Amino acid sequence: MTSARVALIGAAGHGATHLRRLSDWHAAGRVTLAGVCDLNPVETPPGVPLFTDHHALLRSAEPEVVVICTPPHTHLPIAVDAARAGCDLLLEKPPVLSLAEHASLIAVLDETARACQVGFQALGSPALHLLSDAIAAGQLGTVTRVAACGAWWRPDAYFTRVPWAGRRALDGRPVLDGAVANPFAHALMDCLVLAGFSGGADLEVERYRVGGIEVDDTTCLRLAGDPEIVLAVTLRSPEFIAGDITVSGTAGTAVLEYPTDRLALPGHAEPTTVPGRVDLLDNLLAHRADPAGVPLLCPIEATGPFTAVIDALWSAPPPTTIEASQLTPRADGTAIAGISETVRRATSTGSLFAELGVAWAVPAWRGHVPTTASISQLRPRTIGTRIPKPGAISP
Ligand SMILES: NC(=O)c1ccc[n+]([C@@H]2O[C@H](COP(=O)([O-])OP(=O)(O)OC[C@H]3O[C@@H](n4cnc5c(N)ncnc54)[C@H](O)[C@@H]3O)[C@@H](O)[C@H]2O)c1
Repeated sequence: MTSARVALIGAAGHGATHLRRLSDWHAAGRVTLAGVCDLNPVETPPGVPLFTDHHALLRSAEPEVVVICTPPHTHLPIAVDAARAGCDLLLEKPPVLSLAEHASLIAVLDETARACQVGFQALGSPALHLLSDAIAAGQLGTVTRVAACGAWWRPDAYFTRVPWAGRRALDGRPVLDGAVANPFAHALMDCLVLAGFSGGADLEVERYRVGGIEVDDTTCLRLAGDPEIVLAVTLRSPEFIAGDITVSGTAGTAVLEYPTDRLALPGHAEPTTVPGRVDLLDNLLAHRADPAGVPLLCPIEATGPFTAVIDALWSAPPPTTIEASQLTPRADGTAIAGISETVRRATSTGSLFAELGVAWAVPAWRGHVPTTASISQLRPRTIGTRIPKPGAISP
């Protein structure tokens, strides 16, 4: 069997990680790296062509699988072009900007019978699956809350590294950045999966920023329901919390550190690492080889609830700017005093920052996350017959 022809679009930034892995797999004969595309020069393995226009890559390199790691606001048009060119996709998170874009992409994938895996790599976590199984087996009793907290440090340079960083719109067009939509997207996605969330819930959200950016760097939100979902995250904390997801039930509590796959089930004093994370590209390639036997770990349909939350957040007012008196200047950026303790308290109590009496907090904005047909009809996508490449891919 010949190895799949895989191409990468967006090869710097996080794409550099994809490029390294694809280059290794190419050298090992596991895939054929058919081509790489970026607006800026990047180094490719000998013989692998570099393009600056994804249409040219799709036309000339004839990939069967495309990894898309460009900024979020460019995902939809590139994904549509790649699917229409007959490619299966590994599309980075957040997959699209809105439910309308989600529906458009699914329509094109249906029309072209292509598979689309979304880059929520934490869904390849065996610890997540173990926890889901424990919930399903009733080990935690009735689950009442799924709560995630995370506290990271991002220097000011992080928000100016590329034109779309820290922006809500660029050149008059919506882009998507912010703590929940981007770095902590995995925390939100894991919570939605563990809670079995399918939309149709009231949302309360508080979003904050330190001056100089348009989007939230610090956020807490609560989704009503059984169980309720609470998320409290920040990019302005000198103290580090990798990302703890606490699942509370009537019969016990479990904690998953989602970036590291460390899990403590009820009765475990200490978390232990669950080995065996499945790579999403590996899974996509295995799915292509055996569509019925190997389901995708994160098909685009499974991201409908995530996109529904993001979609609802577009209606929220801009994040509140935290006053300088509440901040701690550091050499490379600005920290929010005591924020790691605050996000922990929010998730352990299920309270939003204002309800905790945090000095800079303002009452939550209230919205609603809809149930949509695409969310409720999560269905496994199978690979259809490979369609001929249309000749009309515009240059
Ligand atoms: N899965 C993860 O853990 C993870 C981590 C970081 C970033 N991401 C996601 O990866 C994507 C890229 O993020 P980033 O931080 O690397 O962004 P970035 O802006 O640093 O890099 C994007 C790259 O895409 C290139 N690019 C932009 N438009 C292009 C186009 N039309 N054609 C070809 N190349 C184009 C840029 O030149 C740049 O090299 C985002 O969706 C982001 O959320 C995922």
